[in-house]
Amino acid sequence: MSSGTYLQRCIACHSEFDLAARLYVCSRCGGLLDVDRREAIAIDPASLRELWRARKSSLDKRDRSGVWRFREFLPFADDVEVVSLGEGNTPLYDAPRCTDYCGLFHLKLKHQGCNPTGSFKDTGMTVAVTQARRIGARFVACASTGNTAASLAAYAARADLRCAIIVPGGQVSHAKLAQALDYGAKVLEIEGNFDVCMNVIRELSEDGAVYLVNSINPFRIEGQKTVAFELAEQLEWRVPDHLVLPGGNLGNSSAFGKGFRELLQSGLIDRMPRITVVQAAGAAPFARFYAEDDHRAFVNEEHPQTLASAIKIGAPVSWPKALRAVNETGGGVITVTEQEIADAKAVIGRDGIGCEPASATTVAGIRKLVSDGAIAQSDSVVAVLTGHLLKDTDYVMQYHSDSLLAPDGTHIAGNLSNRPIRTSASIGSIKSALSM
Ligand code: F0G
Repeated sequence: MSSGTYLQRCIACHSEFDLAARLYVCSRCGGLLDVDRREAIAIDPASLRELWRARKSSLDKRDRSGVWRFREFLPFADDVEVVSLGEGNTPLYDAPRCTDYCGLFHLKLKHQGCNPTGSFKDTGMTVAVTQARRIGARFVACASTGNTAASLAAYAARADLRCAIIVPGGQVSHAKLAQALDYGAKVLEIEGNFDVCMNVIRELSEDGAVYLVNSINPFRIEGQKTVAFELAEQLEWRVPDHLVLPGGNLGNSSAFGKGFRELLQSGLIDRMPRITVVQAAGAAPFARFYAEDDHRAFVNEEHPQTLASAIKIGAPVSWPKALRAVNETGGGVITVTEQEIADAKAVIGRDGIGCEPASATTVAGIRKLVSDGAIAQSDSVVAVLTGHLLKDTDYVMQYHSDSLLAPDGTHIAGNLSNRPIRTSASIGSIKSALSM
């Protein structure tokens, strides 16, 4: 497929732009951009599924990637030189303890934390950095709560591009910062939260000096949408009733919406899952907006607060696309408390899976939706875990030593805590500590 098949189109005023135009939003109305096909192409779902399956045993770099394996739906010519770290191909786990905890019969966890840099960002970054190279960018940049930073830093290093990262000083987990530093990015810690970082980086990218690869960049969404493809394939093309994922800047919700929409339009699936976005109660502008009857004015949260630092975001850039995904699938937007996140995270851990706090909003949210009757016990549900357990070990250690404090200073109970036991090196005391 040639890249000439594609264009960029504003989701608000429908203005169209060339694929190579270095835009992040519509130059006419400021709306968000989609990368779209110029016209629908005829495909045979059965042979496409077979082709994608066959690629799993290929050694071609593009076939080894869980993103580029689906390249019929990506806006690049077939011979593009991809910047890949072998992203995607993440597991879809059964999770018996989480299933019980949520009160369900059928729950699976799609673990996007099993990507090369430990978060779902890699699936979008491989495409955005490949696009950066195609348009001749020399300098890539992003604002980040940590995972985008780690991911961009890695892919920029692979592509030999200069890389600048702007993060909220003192608010990013050490593990994520350590990654970005090790991959050689210039990391700027600024005073202010993620939303301030986002404003600054957008301004910096305006004159073209740096190429912005936050999820406002529609090429990021193109990569992330392939997770819907991979998930549908893992479920033998039977779509779950519900897909539940965390919401921060709302790029990922947008991407799942686009992915499932394209699968449906192409006849690869016969319906879309209901997409529900879960936010932390202290950083929930999208949930507040969604709860309003008329959905008119989106009001940012000026001081978002949550220990799930990945989603501590008050001015989510992609909310119009996320709203489209939620509305067209009949999903919803809900919030969960800090205590609910912490306990759900520990249950995910007990399944031998683990995740970072932001990801645990999903299991916490599903439990709530089941108890409210919005999800039936027999519904099939997939939760998207977005980041790896090792992304934020300070949080884990504090929870398990029952010393975790919410942003407002209230104590988060270590209801499922598992403290380390200090003991002497004698066999007797070790046996007694192990109740043997
Ligand atoms: N989960 C994790 C682990 C994240 O890092 C993020 C976002 C989200 C969920 C929310 O996804 O923004 O697409 O709604 N992290 C960004 C970052 C903001 O800079 O790493 P979203």
